[in-house]
Amino acid sequence: MNNSDPGKAGSFSRRSFLKSIGTTAVATAAAQTQSIAAELEKANAETTIGPGAVPVTLQVNGEALKLQLEPRVTLLDALRNYSSLTGSKEGCDRGTCGACTVMIDDTPVYSCMKLAIEAQGHAITTVEGLAKDGKLTKVQQAFMERDALMCGYCTPGFVMSVSALLKKNFRPTADEVRHACVGNICRCGTYPRIMEAALQAAGVATAMNKTEVITYG
Ligand code: FES
Ligand code: FES
Repeated sequence: MNNSDPGKAGSFSRRSFLKSIGTTAVATAAAQTQSIAAELEKANAETTIGPGAVPVTLQVNGEALKLQLEPRVTLLDALRNYSSLTGSKEGCDRGTCGACTVMIDDTPVYSCMKLAIEAQGHAITTVEGLAKDGKLTKVQQAFMERDALMCGYCTPGFVMSVSALLKKNFRPTADEVRHACVGNICRCGTYPRIMEAALQAAGVATAMNKTEVITYG
């Protein structure tokens, strides 16, 4: 070994060093190429859906709803125009009014902002699915008793938002009700009565019912 040669350090020559860099660079590039190829192969293997109608099965109100839908069809459109479930209303069709609110796995969701194909495999509840055997839920009953609507167009959305809240929070405060309904707009301005109805449904005392806590069976 000749350590006086500036091209050599120990057993590592400049040539072998450069060669090793080249080898490492080539190996890295090869690994990256393989990884990109694998990603491309995966992407190519994914099935393209549409643009024509495809079979879509939605679990709505406990029943399977089998439809043929183009992938672009929203859940709201599927409910209202491809089945007879017109309870969810179309106010804005752009995620601002809340009239189209449904529950997906007990979470309130704007159905106009969700593609029907994306909602497959989840439990969807619409306003039609709340009452059982003709018996209104506490929320529906309270909306009726408090006269919490004028034109009624926003009402299904509010009922769904309040129902979703009460599933998770049995005794909400007024602030919590307001927060739950922050995505719902009532153009008729029925907010005070909607608030009263929501709190009545929760059995929370309000100014309207003085000190009495209303409970409903
Ligand atoms: S119709 Fe969906 S938010 Fe208005
Ligand atoms: S009651 Fe008319 S929009 Fe709310």
